[in-house]
Amino acid sequence: MNPGAAPSSSDSLRVVTTVPDLRAAVDAARAAGKSIGLVPTMGALHEGHLSLARAAQSECGLTIVTIFVNPTQFGPHEDFNKYPRTRDADLALLALLGVDLVFAPSPDVMYPAGFSTFVDEPAVAKRWEGQCRPGHFRGVTTVVLKLFNQTRADVAFFGHKDYQQSCVVRRMVADLDVPIAIRVCPTVREADGLAMSSRNRYLDTAERQQALAISRSLQRGAECVRQGQRRADIVIADMRAVLTAAGITRIDYVALVEPQTLEPRDTLDGPTIALIAAYVGTTRLIDNHVLRP
Ligand code: PAF
Repeated sequence: MNPGAAPSSSDSLRVVTTVPDLRAAVDAARAAGKSIGLVPTMGALHEGHLSLARAAQSECGLTIVTIFVNPTQFGPHEDFNKYPRTRDADLALLALLGVDLVFAPSPDVMYPAGFSTFVDEPAVAKRWEGQCRPGHFRGVTTVVLKLFNQTRADVAFFGHKDYQQSCVVRRMVADLDVPIAIRVCPTVREADGLAMSSRNRYLDTAERQQALAISRSLQRGAECVRQGQRRADIVIADMRAVLTAAGITRIDYVALVEPQTLEPRDTLDGPTIALIAAYVGTTRLIDNHVLRP
């Protein structure tokens, strides 16, 4: 194991915290003919993250998981300070999985004194999360581009649960000619349908139960479309009714959008993404589902 590295349950997991150490490990892997896969995370790992790591392992010779709770993507009144930080448990999970390398930089490594350059987010970032969380995607694009440059990965893996984030990253990569392939992997759900999220840890037992209304609402949307409903306003009203019946009243949005532009659809005459962002207690959760009329 790397000297100074955090303890882990496997000697094959290497943990680095600086860009020179990261680059040295990446250069060695490249010299050995390996392709590089990147899984960016903010830690508090769950099966969703592990599925991304497995996808990277199956496609790439070296898998790097990054763990960094990125301050620039949180608004001033958001949960940056209380965001779960579970480094030892995360490293143990990654070691068990046989991940090669973890990059866990400190805020000073990512944002040293004098840091002042940001990536302006693309048009697809403007609505939904971008509107509810001003500045969020500027923080995401900036940190993700830095991670792409730091790792010089060939392929990066993101989850479908953060659907708008995946669209924003794809657009940034296309617009700025970043030499990396983006894979978007399916949302991993609990057996009862709740989309896995690091923020599910905030939920108490009653809230955990209430949160199930989000996936039920998405299912209701799918059912309306299966039954032939093509009017978006009617489907959205039905979906909102599922949330409010469960006591979820603080709803940021329930939207039916075109998959590439994320512009709202009036008529459901092609593949559509149903998006939800809502509060369960004080916890803000997002989820989505693909509707195929
Ligand atoms: O999806 C996340 O966990 C974060 O937005 C990411 C991509 C790791 C950037 O901080």
